[in-house]
Amino acid sequence: MRNLIDILDLSEKEIDFLIKKADDIINRPEEYREKCKYKKLATLFFEPSTRTRLSFEAAMMELGGGVLGFSEAASSSAAKGESVSDTVAVVSGYADIIAMRHPKEGAPLVASMRSEVPVINAGDGGHNHPTQTLTDLFTIYKEKGGFENLTVGLCGDLKFGRTVHSLIAAMSRYKGVKFVLISPDELKLPRYVKESHIKPKGIEYEQTSSLEYAMPKLDVLYMTRVQRERFFNEEDYIRLKNSYILTPDKLKNARQDMIILHPLPRVNEISTSVDNDSRACYFKQAKYGKYIRMALILMLLEVE
Ligand code: NCD
Repeated sequence: MRNLIDILDLSEKEIDFLIKKADDIINRPEEYREKCKYKKLATLFFEPSTRTRLSFEAAMMELGGGVLGFSEAASSSAAKGESVSDTVAVVSGYADIIAMRHPKEGAPLVASMRSEVPVINAGDGGHNHPTQTLTDLFTIYKEKGGFENLTVGLCGDLKFGRTVHSLIAAMSRYKGVKFVLISPDELKLPRYVKESHIKPKGIEYEQTSSLEYAMPKLDVLYMTRVQRERFFNEEDYIRLKNSYILTPDKLKNARQDMIILHPLPRVNEISTSVDNDSRACYFKQAKYGKYIRMALILMLLEVE
């Protein structure tokens, strides 16, 4: 039985397979309408979510399956003090596959050790978010045709942004990829991410606090929200929250074929006046998330 806890649980070949599958689902949705008939997905969300939970649920419904779950810890027995491990032991008797989001790093991994059905990490604290990365990869593939030789700028909260950590892990496996890490000093990429993924592969990277400086070099600009819920004090958050605001003016020295991604939700990092720019792909990206999650569910449930 397979889980998806870390994006590196999938080989590059498997990622290719998922992308091809998601594309096929877009082209021939009727072929997939009953693939998961009588199967159930449980979404155990101990932290807020819109896209991830709803796209997982929509994905399972479009495969003909059912969904159950909870969307906040307060409405589950976690509020009574139940452990993740016990919750999962029980839920794996009710559902065929589980998607879990939790504020504690490593909770989905613990869950997978106890579960009798596949567990998907839908975001664990400031650590990882592998299905967002599948969404990001699918979008990059659709818009740029592949992953090699791309210069990817990651901007904003690189410290607590779990989507950034997983995307770097995934992109580090492709030839000729370069990173430009754009953040204030306090929100720099954690050393462990650099040492686990960027350095061992000898990848070229730069660190800067200037988005203007980075802009002309980029094929992909990945904007992120400052992760308020992971800060130790509100003052720091207030000081850092508006570090970067992408506006049409700042895009003047960007390449014409650069793509702008954001896992969403955005707060202030991208002005709404950028939404109509042909390079803005973040709403498309959210939509692609449903199809790649459909492909993932099929893979983990071993449905042909
Ligand atoms: C991201 C997350 O939860 O980490 N959102 C998402 O899943 N699309 C990014 C964020 O919350 O800033």
